Amino acid sequence: MGHILIKDLNKGFIEQSKKQSMGHVIIKNLNKEFIDRRKKSRCRSDAVPKHNRIPVLDNINLEFLNGEMVCILGPSGCGKSTLLRIVAGFDNAFSGNVLIDGKAHSGPSSDHIFVFQHSSLFPWMTVKENVELGLRAMKDQEEKEEKIQEYIDIVDLGGFEMHYPHQLSGGMQRRAELARALAVNPDILFMDEPFSGLDFLTHMRAREEVVNVHQFIGITMLIVTHDIDDALVMGDRIIVFSSRPARVKMARKLDFPRPRDFEKQPELNELRSEIFLMLGVPHAV
Ligand SMILES: Nc1ncnc2c1ncn2[C@@H]1O[C@H](COP(=O)(O)OP(=O)(O)OP(=O)(O)O)[C@@H](O)[C@H]1O
Ligand SMILES: [Mg+2]
Repeated sequence: MGHILIKDLNKGFIEQSKKQSMGHVIIKNLNKEFIDRRKKSRCRSDAVPKHNRIPVLDNINLEFLNGEMVCILGPSGCGKSTLLRIVAGFDNAFSGNVLIDGKAHSGPSSDHIFVFQHSSLFPWMTVKENVELGLRAMKDQEEKEEKIQEYIDIVDLGGFEMHYPHQLSGGMQRRAELARALAVNPDILFMDEPFSGLDFLTHMRAREEVVNVHQFIGITMLIVTHDIDDALVMGDRIIVFSSRPARVKMARKLDFPRPRDFEKQPELNELRSEIFLMLGVPHAV
């Protein structure tokens, strides 16, 4: 298991802790629709007729605090990835306001890093080179090498620096992605289904790794997942969306102590059953 050796990583910790006051997200009256251009319009005017509009986000109002780990759940196709892309600055075609640290952003930025639903490592680069990408602005080579190693150690990939992505397991690839994203030292990390496609044990380890990293680094993390248990074990706050167009069905702070255990924390277990029911599964398994 990738336990973080805080004593060995003091330097990084000091640098990261300076960012504690960043990464505050406010979403106000956010509405988003896509236009279906395959449907022929009989309308002559430029206005897009109603049947060509696909409403995806319906008046979303949310706030994520600095350093919070927020897990977003909802049925497939409801608009979770769309929300993440908007908050990360990849999509500006919406109405309402998205403020990050009080400002509307005008596009993607290295302050807000997005880990995509599918592996985004460059296959022709080693783990070390992939992580180095996040640090290309750093001039001092010695300092840069130190930093690369620090992030590789945070995700417990020491010894695999010279491996190419195809030589790593799925879980190791996710961890390498996480190291590369963290190396940029972002205020917010967006992760879209970071554990999809992993086997059960790798999934459990990767989840613990992300929780450890979050507790250590303390940046805001927004994680989209299909897995109710992931959200309840990881999140400081949980958001549950309705089916499309997504509305907020639940936004709850999770005050349960960590490590979380469904058997030992009956209220957590009750909440789990409530969310299963909310998502249309009457009996939690
Ligand atoms: N570029 C696009 N053009 C038109 N419709 C789109 C586009 N991107 C997404 N959609 C539609 O918007 C809806 C929400 O998509 P989104 O990818 O946000 O869902 P999701 O909640 O992330 O789903 P999943 O859990 O399956 O990943 C879907 O109905 C999808 O078909
Ligand atoms: Mg998605």
